[in-house]
Amino acid sequence: MTKATENSGISSRLLLFGATGDLAKRMLLPSLFALHEDGLIAPDLRIVGTARSEMSDEDYRALAAEALSEYLPEDRKGNGQLQSFLERLSYQPLDARKSEGYDALSGKLGDISGGLAIFLSTAPSLFEATIAGLDSAGLTGDNVRIGLEKPLGHDLETSGLINDAVAAAFTEDQTFRIDHYLGKETVQNLMALRFANMMFEPLWNANGIDHVEITVSETVGLEGRHGFYDDTGALRDMVQNHMLQLLALTAMEAPASLDATSIRDEKVKVLRSLRPVTAEEMVRGQYGEGAVKGGAVTSYADDLGESSDTETFVAIKAHIDNWRWQGVPFYLRTGKRLSERRSEIVIQFKSVPHNIFAERGGRLNANRLVIRLQPEEYVRLQVMAKEPGLDRDGVVLREVPLDLSLSQAFAKARKRIAYERLLLDLIDGDPTLFVRRDEVEAQWRWVDAIRETWHKNDMKPKSYGAGSWGPSAAIALTERDGVSWHE
Ligand code: BG6
Repeated sequence: MTKATENSGISSRLLLFGATGDLAKRMLLPSLFALHEDGLIAPDLRIVGTARSEMSDEDYRALAAEALSEYLPEDRKGNGQLQSFLERLSYQPLDARKSEGYDALSGKLGDISGGLAIFLSTAPSLFEATIAGLDSAGLTGDNVRIGLEKPLGHDLETSGLINDAVAAAFTEDQTFRIDHYLGKETVQNLMALRFANMMFEPLWNANGIDHVEITVSETVGLEGRHGFYDDTGALRDMVQNHMLQLLALTAMEAPASLDATSIRDEKVKVLRSLRPVTAEEMVRGQYGEGAVKGGAVTSYADDLGESSDTETFVAIKAHIDNWRWQGVPFYLRTGKRLSERRSEIVIQFKSVPHNIFAERGGRLNANRLVIRLQPEEYVRLQVMAKEPGLDRDGVVLREVPLDLSLSQAFAKARKRIAYERLLLDLIDGDPTLFVRRDEVEAQWRWVDAIRETWHKNDMKPKSYGAGSWGPSAAIALTERDGVSWHE
């Protein structure tokens, strides 16, 4: 039997590191509750939380109950399932750096012969000690799998060290690297749109597409994550992972099948085909003071309490050097304290080869496909149509949307948190929506080269007003090519 098959199957224990942290409170506990309420996790699944704080099982259940009352959507509350969910939970304090505590943790987990899934969201500095501790306590066997939350290093080298530490105890099949964007429904829908419909794929290449834009904009600022964010910056926080995964899913070839290997093989080919970016093809920004959603906000330096060279915005003109995408720029931009919260992929098709309406005054815009991931979820195709009328003064053509609102078309389906899907896949052992090591390495290689270029050219972030769409240089980046960002 191969490792992969040994490792498949549903786990009966879930071990949450960082169980008292922000991610656990906001996302993991509400997601697990939702899976419990919908009967999607087995009745015998026990969830053990661990973190440094001394706390009893009862204390942890109280913490979980409070987090659920704060972060669960209203329609999930008061349905009578809270008590039975809390009964699944227990807690074991652990100082991850000290090897002594791991036997007690193992004791708390009890019999793991039914499979153990571990969710690790701890500081990267604790990774090595944690893996060694798990290993020494017998918590790394064939029926164990480990989910790893970012940040996993801050460049190719440090991510390699973490991956090596994990690989010393877990095979790649047992390692589930999390990128929560892959848990988003609309991101998965991208594959359905491309590969379950006939009409897009024949045009989905340099013959049919002029350029692609990927925007992930946020209105929030530092959100109290001072140390982490200032050491990280927008490029490593958002581009290295989420944006490159969106790019890979948009640009990849059709996979042979829906299995994890086929999909990840195709994504990694795209990531390896990314051309190194030149200094002229990128913009770094940092927000100054301004107004967001009608309220005045302070600058990044004020939020941080000191001046800093960390970027809170990046725009990049990326190229994929393969046959399909030759000559098609992929414009990426992401930032904090921008005008609105929006994640979307815009596919700008080429113009028709000849406009037969021109001599009757008809002007044409090329078709555009907008895939909005959040906050709304829709796919909108802009097509040209004739305005009704007798056309005595010429033909008037207008762009109209062919609209597929996913929230309306699937109004009855529950909107799920990305972590619901990812936790369930981790428990069930399906690695498709997790990132393989070679993907992460290709992502870092490209991002490290960008940072090297910044360094060599002494590229400091340009200031932009909070509430804007970033520095004016980001607009110039596309305008030079005769392209406007979709706004
Ligand atoms: C996280 C980043 O990975 O993604 C955050 O660390 C960012 O800085 C967040 O705010 C955005 O996620 P979402 O799902 O709100 O788009």
